[in-house]
Amino acid sequence: MKSIKKLLLPICLCFVLFVKAQSNQPLIIIKTQHDALVFRENSNKQLSQLYFGLSLNDSNDYKIMKPNSGDALVTGGGIYNREPAIEVTHSDGNPSLQLYFASYSVEKIDGNVAVTHITLKDSVYPVVVTWHIKSYAKEDVLEQWTTIENNAKTAIVLNNYASACLQLSKEKYFLTHFYGEWASEMHIEELPLPEGIKTIESKLGVRATNYDNPSFMLALNKPADEETGEVVAGSLAWSGNFKILFENILNSRGMDNRLQLIAGINPYASNYTLKAGQSFTTPPLILTYTNQGKGQASRNLHHWALNYGVYNGRVARQTLLNNWETTFFNFNEQKLTSLLDDTKKLGTDVFLLDDGWFANKYPRDNDKSGLGDWEVNKTKLPNGIGYLVKEATEKGVKFGIWVEPEMVNPKSELYEKHPDWVLKLPNRPENLQRTQLVLDLCNPLVQEHAFKVVDDLLANNPSIAYVKWDCNRNMTNAYSPYLKDAQSQMFVDYTLGLYKVLERVRAKYPNVEMMWCSGGGGRAEYGGLKYMQEFWPSDNTDPVDRISIQWGYSYFFPSAVQCAHVTGWGKESLKFKTDVAMMAKLGYDIPVNNFTPDELKFSQQAILTYKRLQPVINEGDLYRLQDPYSKERAALEYIDEAKTHAVLFAFALYPLNGDIFPAIQLKGLDPTKKYLLKEINLSDETKPQCKQSGSVFSGDYLMKVGLNAFLTKTLTSAVIEIIAQD
Ligand code: GLA
Repeated sequence: MKSIKKLLLPICLCFVLFVKAQSNQPLIIIKTQHDALVFRENSNKQLSQLYFGLSLNDSNDYKIMKPNSGDALVTGGGIYNREPAIEVTHSDGNPSLQLYFASYSVEKIDGNVAVTHITLKDSVYPVVVTWHIKSYAKEDVLEQWTTIENNAKTAIVLNNYASACLQLSKEKYFLTHFYGEWASEMHIEELPLPEGIKTIESKLGVRATNYDNPSFMLALNKPADEETGEVVAGSLAWSGNFKILFENILNSRGMDNRLQLIAGINPYASNYTLKAGQSFTTPPLILTYTNQGKGQASRNLHHWALNYGVYNGRVARQTLLNNWETTFFNFNEQKLTSLLDDTKKLGTDVFLLDDGWFANKYPRDNDKSGLGDWEVNKTKLPNGIGYLVKEATEKGVKFGIWVEPEMVNPKSELYEKHPDWVLKLPNRPENLQRTQLVLDLCNPLVQEHAFKVVDDLLANNPSIAYVKWDCNRNMTNAYSPYLKDAQSQMFVDYTLGLYKVLERVRAKYPNVEMMWCSGGGGRAEYGGLKYMQEFWPSDNTDPVDRISIQWGYSYFFPSAVQCAHVTGWGKESLKFKTDVAMMAKLGYDIPVNNFTPDELKFSQQAILTYKRLQPVINEGDLYRLQDPYSKERAALEYIDEAKTHAVLFAFALYPLNGDIFPAIQLKGLDPTKKYLLKEINLSDETKPQCKQSGSVFSGDYLMKVGLNAFLTKTLTSAVIEIIAQD
């Protein structure tokens, strides 16, 4: 007995010391208005994530939480067998990185924004990883990214270099991700995460998205709906290959039912060499947590996007008329001048000249030639772009132009002069998509070329107010002649090269409105939106399809950044098309001279209405009320911050004969306020479809009882303005 006591005493003492030592470690608490992410050094001297969720009232309570023995930013090659966030090979071939907590500091940017820098060091090799976590208090948003420094005298190779790593410990996880294809973007799929690994990723090189958007919503414990449930939502701000990985380990001893989320640049074929003294900074993962469902998660991201994430996020977007679907490549000066008149007549701010205006030796009369040769085509436009800009200005409209500076047709002077500026594999046939190849933006000379494409246009025509920046293929059979034996850096250096060009464009032309386009929605992501005000969500502008596509994007992106044009796609009425486009950033790509006088009048009025309501639609809070996936109907609402002005968009899609729908209950109103309902976007002779239009109701009534069922006829729509009464 005595000997057992003797044995137990040191064990107990050890335990006390262990607990004491742990409680002495400082907590690193990163807080927003409602949320907290908390770290602490663990007994192994590594950084441990203690908590992520709603912040606790008393921060002393975090001290009770026991750090797990694992590393918060999981590294490879050492004692962990889980997927690594960071993995490095040192010059002696040692493939391990073991990071220990060194220090942290907090950089206060202003009253709302702060960045916590956590420094982690390997104890043997001079590699330092700084984990940066930027908090946006009011928006409840965090950004996470890493900087990896090689302080060794020799090079190291980064095999994995994620931006973010998150540890969650819940019973179940439900992943919502958004996948698609050209003209069929942003399908929603919600899956219970099984044991093991699920990834969403892109290997398209020049595009982050198109197949899977670099964004996710993860519901914890049970599926979340719009209003309820715990949700972690994220989006990676990177325009190239990405990978977001969810490793769900069930019943793992010491690991609980832990889900580890790793997000960043896709390490696929991308080992990256860091020379002595070099560092690499990864792109941010934008992250939010809420216990109030997917709707609130979206609103958090929208607020962050408009306030911080999107270039000139809160500057009102210009409406435009595009010529693409009216003329395709077939136009001349006279035709364009008449379209300038149409722009004026219609009332949009900008006329946007699309593809086909350039190249002489191999004229850009179709998509087979001329791409890369950015001199104006003398046959189509003998007086140059300057003449059109002048004409536009005289007619009182602004001028916009399409460019695709990253690409080249083999049939072009650029290709003849600089075959070494093109990404293509030696010893293999060229792999063309849309008869074009990708230029080698890893090469600074090619970056200069891309910058000059835009610079020449804007410097010579300072009143150009809008640029559509396109990118019409993926990378395949790609090889950078510039990088020579460093091919595994191509995917990353391409995107970094592209950003260098965009930095220069923005530094010189801060006020031009720019659209990010890529064969439809290939570049719907926040990496590009740092430079662009908006993106083209899809080449599919059929309004019924667009309701679902725009709905999908709305989980992550505010309506201000989604260009939506009224076009000839689909057989729906002009009103239906207009109502769908007005839910986002309204534009037109349709022959205006085919409009009847009534259609023209309706459209003119719709543009004025959109401009009037732009602050509510593009900057207000979004409530998704009725999803379009049943194919019966859809409804969503925007409301301003003061809760004085809202707009409801309601659509009947394909209801069955005799379907009677329940009332649409509005959200986010002030229950104590009275609101006037006013159906808008009606032509003169059309009666409101909503019988309650013209009546006043309390916010309480509209949220608890709702608007009576209306819209039962196939492919009909209504827009209701909801105005608070003093
Ligand atoms: C892409 C775009 C279109 C148009 C064409 C021009 O397909 O999505 O809107 O600009 O390029 O070639």
